[in-house]
Amino acid sequence: MVPVIKSIGVVGAGQMGCGIAHVSALAGYKVQIYDLSQDRIETGLATINGNLARQVGGGKLTDEERNAALALISGSSDVNDLAPMDLVIEAATEDESVKRKIYALVCPVLGPDAMLATNTSSLSITRLASATDRPERFMGIHFMNPVPVMKLVELVRGIATGEATFSAAKEYVAKLEKTATVAEDFPAFIVNRILLPMINEAIYTLYEGVGSVDAIDTAMKLGANHPMGPLQLADFIGLDTCLSIMQVLYDGLADSKYRPCPLLVKYVEAGWLGRKSGRGFYDYRGEVPVPTR
Ligand SMILES: NC(=O)c1ccc[n+]([C@@H]2O[C@H](COP(=O)([O-])OP(=O)(O)OC[C@H]3O[C@@H](n4cnc5c(N)ncnc54)[C@H](O)[C@@H]3O)[C@@H](O)[C@H]2O)c1
Repeated sequence: MVPVIKSIGVVGAGQMGCGIAHVSALAGYKVQIYDLSQDRIETGLATINGNLARQVGGGKLTDEERNAALALISGSSDVNDLAPMDLVIEAATEDESVKRKIYALVCPVLGPDAMLATNTSSLSITRLASATDRPERFMGIHFMNPVPVMKLVELVRGIATGEATFSAAKEYVAKLEKTATVAEDFPAFIVNRILLPMINEAIYTLYEGVGSVDAIDTAMKLGANHPMGPLQLADFIGLDTCLSIMQVLYDGLADSKYRPCPLLVKYVEAGWLGRKSGRGFYDYRGEVPVPTR
């Protein structure tokens, strides 16, 4: 029987977790967000509030819809508050050891029939499932960034994912009015398997001095009709996330064409993670973003 999903737990109040909470509440689901500290929860809730307000300002939502969505979202740093949720979506840092620790903490709290999903951009669903107590009720539900704007969700089964779990996830995505595509459980699935090597190549192009940040982004915006330049997009995704995905591709497919660019490694080591940390290929601390190279 396909489980009926009425409530969504979200692990991680970062850019993706907030986006998932936002669209789920707008679709009428009760949402509970969990993160490591109350500070992160407060920042996340403020972000969601601001993003909903922007949609009201743009005429995409009414004030009533915004208030109704906000009333459905709660957050806390107590993992036990996830206990009543029907589907918990983990959207924490792209690091397998972090995700494994989270499953060890969250699984004992959940009801026996609850589903668990990961928003991982690249990690093996089958391997992550093996770190849970419920591989049949575990799968990948991979949203795109920014979640309220992007229409696509990739659905990824692990080897043990049950049909009822998959059908329930499909129904959830349809209720969010997003389009689901199915990807097999290979490193980085479909979108990031194609997108991240392009971004990594843009960083090599910068590293080798073929062009400046501005030249590379302008070239791809005006020359390939991309809405954002690849370096601007890398900053938007988060350079730590970009590096993790390249490492997963490199390790998982054992092909040197996926070697992460040393310049990407250097930026991450510096803590220049892109927009979320205020600096990456652009510096966001002033009025307008300024290229850092
Ligand atoms: N950024 C993107 O464009 C994008 C797109 C699709 C999927 N994803 C995936 O979504 C996930 C989150 O990415 P993000 O961009 O939102 O990252 P982020 O850095 O904005 O947020 C990560 C959040 O996880 C929290 N966290 C870390 N360890 C935790 C723990 N042990 N328990 C609870 N919370 C913890 C952090 O405090 C932070 O709030 C990753 O798996 C990433 O690959 C990212």
